[in-house]
Amino acid sequence: MTTQPLLTVEDLVIDYGHSRKKSSFRALHGVSVDVAAGECVGLVGESGSGKSTLGKAILGLVPVTSGRILFGGQDITHARGAARRRLASSIQVVFQDPYGSLDPTMTVGDILAEPLVASGTSKREAAKAVAEMIDRVRLPGNVVGRYPSEFSGGQRQRIAIARALVRRPRLIVCDEPVSALDLTTQSAIIDLFIELQRDTGVSYLFVSHDLGVVRRICHRVAVMYRGEIVEAGAGETITREPAHPYSRRLLMASPVADPVEQAARRQAWLGLREPTAV
Ligand SMILES: Nc1ncnc2c1ncn2[C@@H]1O[C@H](COP(=O)(O)OP(=O)(O)OP(=O)(O)O)[C@@H](O)[C@H]1O
Ligand SMILES: [Mg+2]
Repeated sequence: MTTQPLLTVEDLVIDYGHSRKKSSFRALHGVSVDVAAGECVGLVGESGSGKSTLGKAILGLVPVTSGRILFGGQDITHARGAARRRLASSIQVVFQDPYGSLDPTMTVGDILAEPLVASGTSKREAAKAVAEMIDRVRLPGNVVGRYPSEFSGGQRQRIAIARALVRRPRLIVCDEPVSALDLTTQSAIIDLFIELQRDTGVSYLFVSHDLGVVRRICHRVAVMYRGEIVEAGAGETITREPAHPYSRRLLMASPVADPVEQAARRQAWLGLREPTAV
């Protein structure tokens, strides 16, 4: 028996600014990747390589030029309107900047209850689910009556994670969810992502430019470069012994705590030339 992946992206092409008047920019050049149930797949690559574009296409936030996106075996490539709204309970997102994505005029309790109430859950049931979720992300119960501005970056990211999880999605697109946090907070939030995945079986597409971060959380990793996946494989392999020259440069550029190893890396990095066309 073959198990079907939860998410399959096939040969995806995304053009921005596609209109008769404007010339377009091709941000993705035929990207294929899949994510199994309960799996974390990392997307790494430098700024502008197309990581967020891929995440946005899965969320239906940018139109697809060609290729397909399948979710649970269903073609969602061009899902709009009611079909897209139904998908929102299955595919959620956590962004880098939780403050920008949390309505500052709403209490945390209302932020978390809103998607449930909007989809027909009673207020009582919603309040119960919210309390459970707050507990899950390790926030104190009294946060419900408070506003996002009263919290630190790490706590706000916990609120954003709770909001993504409260509808019990099967996939969360995590777009640089720890990049804005200090190292200690980063580590605690990564632990939380790992624990939530273990407890709920949710899948993550985990976007990061930091190989160290994806090494800790991702089962598999895909390396993006200029709108293409240049290398993909087991997280351990890609983050320790990448084969493609671009992935190697990325590895050399990621900081390590040991100064001797860091110096060795710097030398090795200098020895690697810019990759030619891939
Ligand atoms: N709305 C848009 N209109 C036109 N071009 C865009 C748009 N959004 C992104 N791009 C371009 O598409 C390319 C890929 O961008 P994308 O945001 O996906 O990169 P990224 O890998 O997420 O980068 P970062 O690490 O900086 O977040 C970049 O060249 C970017 O300038
Ligand atoms: Mg991005």
